[in-house]
Amino acid sequence: MNFADSEVVNSILMDEGMSPSETPEQADVIFVNTCSIRENAETRVWNRLKEFRALKKEKEGLTVGVLGCMAERIKERIIDQEQLVDIVVGPDAYRDIPNLLAEVEDGRKAVNVLLSLEETYADISPVRTSGNGVTAFVSIMRGCDNMCAFCVVPFTRGRERSRPMESILREIRQLRDQGYKEITLLGQNVNSYKYENIDFTRLMDEASSVDPEIRFRFSSPHPKDFPQPLLHLIAERPNLCSYIHIPAQSGNSEVLERMRRPYTREEYLGLIHQMKQIIPGVSLSTDIITGFCDETEEEHRDTMTLMEQVEFDLAYMFAYSERERTLAHRKYEDNVPEDVKKRRLTEIIQQQMSIQEKNNKKEIGRRHLVLVEGTSKRSDEQLSGRTDTNKMVVFDREHYQKGEYVEVEITGCTSATLMARPIRKSSIAEFNKAQEEAVVLG
Ligand code: 5AD
Ligand code: SF4
Repeated sequence: MNFADSEVVNSILMDEGMSPSETPEQADVIFVNTCSIRENAETRVWNRLKEFRALKKEKEGLTVGVLGCMAERIKERIIDQEQLVDIVVGPDAYRDIPNLLAEVEDGRKAVNVLLSLEETYADISPVRTSGNGVTAFVSIMRGCDNMCAFCVVPFTRGRERSRPMESILREIRQLRDQGYKEITLLGQNVNSYKYENIDFTRLMDEASSVDPEIRFRFSSPHPKDFPQPLLHLIAERPNLCSYIHIPAQSGNSEVLERMRRPYTREEYLGLIHQMKQIIPGVSLSTDIITGFCDETEEEHRDTMTLMEQVEFDLAYMFAYSERERTLAHRKYEDNVPEDVKKRRLTEIIQQQMSIQEKNNKKEIGRRHLVLVEGTSKRSDEQLSGRTDTNKMVVFDREHYQKGEYVEVEITGCTSATLMARPIRKSSIAEFNKAQEEAVVLG
């Protein structure tokens, strides 16, 4: 989300005649886009701001601004007490940045943290300055109305609102014209996308029809109301990836109730079962929180067994971090000791790593279509990219290029990466046809 927001801000700044600088030292203005989701995200921002304070001392006239979710929460502290920054801009106020910069030029500190009921930045074309030129994010909605008990997002990003479908499709066509090959549609809660009479399944249908050779993913849906027709659409449409990120948060129904996540363990497992049935070979990932208020050892073990049963291909796992203003902060006690939260986190991470290794070993010998994203981090001689199922694959460069679809055969793995042998340059249509023929031939 923050990557996508920074690209909107890039566009606003570039319209003002500014251009990106290579290093902080060369910049006249530095914006730090911030996240409040967990305490350690905020700690990182504070440290970053302190680094820039040192730079501010050296360079007269350097303007430092804070964007995004931390803005509202800490505007007084940031401006008055710490003397760290000149501008504070909340997630719905980016259009005001030029005015705020002008205020700073007049010698004032400038703040706009107003949240909006309508702002979706629909007419702004994000400027992607730091990506790989192959994969891009497109924001389809803002805010969240779900009010999960642990989550600060509804307070920092405001009410849920959907962006007009036409403006989303326009941005996708622009990305196609610029040569992008993979697009992830983003929202805090994508199943509730609703613009006029258009729902999320219809949006995915229209988006993936823009170009059959562009892959589409989305993040994140909520298990409480995942649309079944979308599962069938994913199964039928070769360019809708067979990969779903579906945050469980916990594997115990009582914990889910305390979290205000309106589904039970059984309902979640039922949904996963449907996903696996309708989309053969679907790859699944999740988010898990350990040590939420009052979590017992037994409840924690339920999370372990849920993860064991589903065999997620990837999981983002966190220790619970209490956030001001949330329901959990107001009504519950953050009473699982830090060392217990961490131990439970370590347990689920270790289990998850072995599940991933086991899943990845099954991939050896299989063929996949990999979209090349660039040179591998480890070696210039190798390329890296992802399968349709979102697994990272590394293979010898040979004559292949960034942005190409390459058919590969998996030859080895770790818990996080697949190693492969490239076979030929291909396309979604070609690879899909070959797969279908292989199925018919049995
Ligand atoms: N503490 C720990 N993890 C959290 N998340 C959201 N709020 C918190 C919190 N207070 C996690 C959830 C969510 C992901 C984006 O961040 O798992 O799905
Ligand atoms: Fe936070 Fe829940 Fe909304 Fe996700 S769905 S952003 S966890 S309130």
